[in-house]
Amino acid sequence: MLELAQKRIVLGLTGGIACYKIAEFVRRAQDLGAVIDVVMTEAATHFITPVTMQALSGRPVFLDAWDNRVPNNMAHINLTRGADAIFIAPASTDFIAKLAHGLADDLLSTLCVAKGNCPLLVAPAMNREMWLHPATQRNVAQIKADGVAILGPAEGDQACGEVGSGRMLEPNELLAELVAFFQPKVLAGKRVLITAGPTSEKIDPVRVITNRSSGKMGYAIAQAAREAGAQVTLISGATALPAPYGVLRLNAESALDMHAAVMAEASGADIFISVAAVADWRVVNVSNNKLKKTASGQAPELEFAQNPDILADVAKLPSGPWCVGFAAETENLLEYAEAKRKRKGVPLLVGNLAQQAMNAESTELVLFDETGHKTLPAQPKINAARQLIKAIAQRMPG
Ligand code: C5P
Repeated sequence: MLELAQKRIVLGLTGGIACYKIAEFVRRAQDLGAVIDVVMTEAATHFITPVTMQALSGRPVFLDAWDNRVPNNMAHINLTRGADAIFIAPASTDFIAKLAHGLADDLLSTLCVAKGNCPLLVAPAMNREMWLHPATQRNVAQIKADGVAILGPAEGDQACGEVGSGRMLEPNELLAELVAFFQPKVLAGKRVLITAGPTSEKIDPVRVITNRSSGKMGYAIAQAAREAGAQVTLISGATALPAPYGVLRLNAESALDMHAAVMAEASGADIFISVAAVADWRVVNVSNNKLKKTASGQAPELEFAQNPDILADVAKLPSGPWCVGFAAETENLLEYAEAKRKRKGVPLLVGNLAQQAMNAESTELVLFDETGHKTLPAQPKINAARQLIKAIAQRMPG
């Protein structure tokens, strides 16, 4: 999906070993449709060559404030006019200090001062002592106060052999931050709890009863909620999907596990979105040992008990979160989904046709609320998720 289509990004590289990761970032950002103009400081050219960056970006690389390839010789002005963002990665200690003080002694620092309204995102990368130094922390606080978005840094192994905070985010994480930056912050400061994926109910130590759910819709909603500025906890059954960047994932196997995990988190949440395909029944007579086939061909007799309804229980909490349910139906979607919304006692229920949505990359969602229903067009799940998040933000009280 071209999530950065029509976005023109001025990518600034400053001196740091993390420059090697930026080659990959440029390729992936281009895959998403971004057009990238690279500007490098002199220090950055010691870590990665302008030739590499030009070959990858397919555009001239800018190094010098006195660049006579630019007809008016004003690269420091021209480059950011019409750009959607300036993205500095890696951002060195020295460069952050320059930003904090408004220094303008090379092309990159000058265009940051001359940028006008163009947003500035900065991904610090440095040794942990440099990151923790009071001057660096002061400078970071200053540029934050000036409206700069700080991405990371992460903690972990550093190229110098030390371990701590100051690692630049990985290329895929930088990309997730850039994509998120362009999404409206309709859930800023909200805490969102989401369930996703299937639950599985043990029959014996090696067998389970489960639902056919890939988790893709719930994971896309978790990503979209995080992009919208929410703090997101995702309680997930077994799926093959990686946790969306910036989302806290807790695993739950059975419906009872998921019920307990949700009830422990629900009172701290503003919104609960119940996307998981929860098993309706669990096996009561779970065998401690693997059940064996018999010569007579007699199948084992399983006894079932109904699982608690997680969504309905959260909806009943006296000052619980604003609840959104899902209904995957194979027929009579309008009738069944509206009845389910009322039965579960939730203000918004999202319906889709199971045969269309299951394990698919796209889906058509129908939103049911007290005023009636509205169909969102069939689209990739991440787009459907972003539209759903906007619909939730519009409907939430206060
Ligand atoms: O009752 P049904 O499974 O059709 O309802 C679907 C909705 O209820 C989904 O939002 C699902 O996550 C939620 N649900 C639940 N706990 C159950 C069964 C369903 O939270 N035991």
